[in-house]
This record gives sequence, structure tokens and C-alpha cells, in this order.
Amino acid sequence: MRRSESRELQVELGARAYPIRIAPGLLDRRDAFAGVRFPRHVLLVTDANVAPLYADRVRRLLPGQQEAALLVLPAGEQHKTLATCTKIFSALADMQASRDALVVALGGGVIGDMAGFAAACWMRGVRCLQIPTTLLAMVDSSVGGKTAVDLPQGKNLVGAFHQPCAVAIDTDLLATLPARELSAGLAEVVKYGALGDAAFFGWIEQHADALVAGDATTLVQAVHRSCEHKASVVVADETEQGVRALLNFGHTFGHAIEAETGYGALLHGEAVAIGMLLAARLSSEMGLAPLLDVARLAALLERLHLPIAIPAKIAARLDPSALLARMRLDKKTVSGRLRLILWRRIGHAFVAEDVDSHHVLELLTDALADGG
Ligand code: NAD
Ligand code: GLY
Repeated sequence: MRRSESRELQVELGARAYPIRIAPGLLDRRDAFAGVRFPRHVLLVTDANVAPLYADRVRRLLPGQQEAALLVLPAGEQHKTLATCTKIFSALADMQASRDALVVALGGGVIGDMAGFAAACWMRGVRCLQIPTTLLAMVDSSVGGKTAVDLPQGKNLVGAFHQPCAVAIDTDLLATLPARELSAGLAEVVKYGALGDAAFFGWIEQHADALVAGDATTLVQAVHRSCEHKASVVVADETEQGVRALLNFGHTFGHAIEAETGYGALLHGEAVAIGMLLAARLSSEMGLAPLLDVARLAALLERLHLPIAIPAKIAARLDPSALLARMRLDKKTVSGRLRLILWRRIGHAFVAEDVDSHHVLELLTDALADGG
């Protein structure tokens, strides 16, 4: 039964193609990393929450494990910085890692993004194996090669495109994930349905209770469908010249809230949930999308235990103009024009060029006044 839940996808990027292996219990299997070449220098990067749970298990699976160094970083978005990344560079230097070194990222999106970025930079690029341990990382950040760190001025502002050499997803690891983190990951699952797949959105509605309860079989299906979406977009537009921008539905709002609150007040997935609703509401107020669909999105996010408004305590310390200024620094902005992912209906997001900032400011002012 469990073997039959195993799935394998291929991210078809020519010479840089790589597998996404998805299976409950994958980290108990000797073939978990089949096809990955293990050099002399392997650095396993993880965080302080994940290390005691899974680091030994992964180390036992690595061939030539005695050579694998372990680096445990502090957990949390507030540590996704250049300063923390420097610790990865120092560890690579200490082990005299050469150009064939392998960085193994074991953790959520914070570890995946930082370890991936360090791999992109070390000697101008070494391989990175992603082993995501949060739902968010399994359905989104471990696939597609976006790597980055945050600056106080904005999220993910320093980074590189650097595809992993493989992604190994053991969905059993979700059993230890706190419920709030599971919900945060579900926001990115909803994103795929909301932006481009109405049928998948309907499937999430049907299975919302099972997903939020952590039902293992339903989660494998959600991870698989999400990875299929992500892989197909990445293959079509690896460096976000076009369609990949749609994956940022809700993110320009969400990133602004995260940066303006100093990171960590809301989880990334929570900020994305609020951001998707703000983008949907803006679309509706601009006469582009039906209000009914906005209500359907809000209802689904609520069933997944996600916030649908900026919590009052956080709203009280935010200023709409400051949020708008943050949005202008987002990577979607081109030549200072506000470029947002807006919505026609469930399953139909699009890139809106040069959105009128007065509309956005009004929306933000209302959103902060309505703080949930
Ligand atoms: P995270 O990495 O901070 O992990 C969340 C928390 O869960 C942490 O405290 C972690 O220690 C803990 N944890 C992880 N796995 C666990 C497990 N199995 N059991 C118990 N605890 C566990 O957060 P996240 O939500 O995974 O990632 C968010 C980050 O991902 C953000 O920085 C965001 O910008 C980034 N992101 C990147 C991309 C991309 O394409 N690169 C896409 C989406 C998000
Ligand atoms: N998470 C957005 C992207 O990978 O493009």
C-alpha cells in the first residue's frame, strides 16, 4: 500500500533535469537518493528543530556518511539572512569542500532557500540535494531552484536561480510538523488551484478536512499534484520571464507584510493566504473578478485554519503607505511600476502591469482598519 503511494516526477530541464521523488517512508529506503552522486565532501545543513528529529536518519542513508559534516542553524525566518548563510560558507571552507561538493538541505523553506543559495555561490556553484521537511517546502520551495536570503528592506532580495540535483520528499515527516505550519503549507497548495486549476481548487475544497487533519494519503496526493504544477511552470519558464510570475499570486502583499513586521510575526504561508485574498479583493473591486469567488477563496482558507485578515494586533502597527512602499521593492515590480498578479476567477490569475497605486492604497487602508 505504502509503496503504491510512491510517485516520481522529472523536472525536464535538459542536462539539468532532476527527479522529485515523493513517498511516505522514503527516508527508510536505500534508493531514496538513487541517481545522486555522492562526493567526498557532503555538508548536511538543517535547523535546530529538524536536526534532532531527522538528521541521523539522513546521515545513515548517505553513502560514505563518515565524510558528511552536519551544520545545524537556528530555526525561523528571522535567521534567513546573509549572516546565517556565512556559517554555511565557513563550514564548507572548514571541510575544504571542492567544486564537486554536495550541499544537502534538510528542512523547511528557510533551510532550503539558504542552503540552495550557499550551494549556488560556493565556488560559483556546487550541487544541492533538497530534502524538504515542511509541507510548504514539499509543495513549493524545494522545487524550481529559487534560492535567496532576506534583507531588512525586503524578502528574498539577495538570491540566485540554482536548480537542485534531486528532491527527496518523505511525507511521513509531516507527522511531526506543528498544525500551524501544516496550514501554512496548505496556503501554497491552495495557490496552485486558485491561480491556474479550478478543478484542483474544487478537490482541495472536497478534501479540506482531511488535509487540515494531516491525513497521510490525502497529503501525498496534494504534494504530488502541487509538485506537478510547480514542475510544469518551472520547465516552461525557469527564470520567471513570463508564466512563472503567476506562482507569486498573493506574494507581493504577503512579502510586504512579512518585511514590514520584521519577519516572523506571521508565517510565510499565513502572509501568502492574506495576500491571496487581498489580490482577489483588489481584482473584485477593480471589476475584474466575481465577489462570489473571493468569498469561496476566503471560506476555503478559513477551513484550512489560515488567517483571512491581518490579525488586529499586527494591523495596529502597520501603515498602508509603508506597505505600499515595500510592495514597490518587490521583485515583480518593473521600473517602479506596480506589477501584481490579479485574478479573473478561481483558476485564472494573470499579470497586471502598472496597477493604479491609489486602488492598492485604499485596499490596504481598509484591510488594516478591518484587522481580524
Ligand atoms: P521554515 O523553514 O521556517 O519551517 C517552519 C518551522 O517548522 C521551523 O521552525 C522548522 O524548524 C520546523 N520544522 C520543519 N520541518 C519540521 C518537521 N518535519 N517537524 C517539526 N518541525 C519542523 O518555514 P517554511 O514554511 O518551510 O518555509 C518558508 C520559507 O520558504 C520562506 O522563507 C519563503 O520565502 C520560502 N519559500 C521559498 C520558495 C522558493 O521557491 N524558493 C517558495 C515558497 C516559499
Ligand atoms: N514560489 C514561487 C516560484 O517558485 O516561482
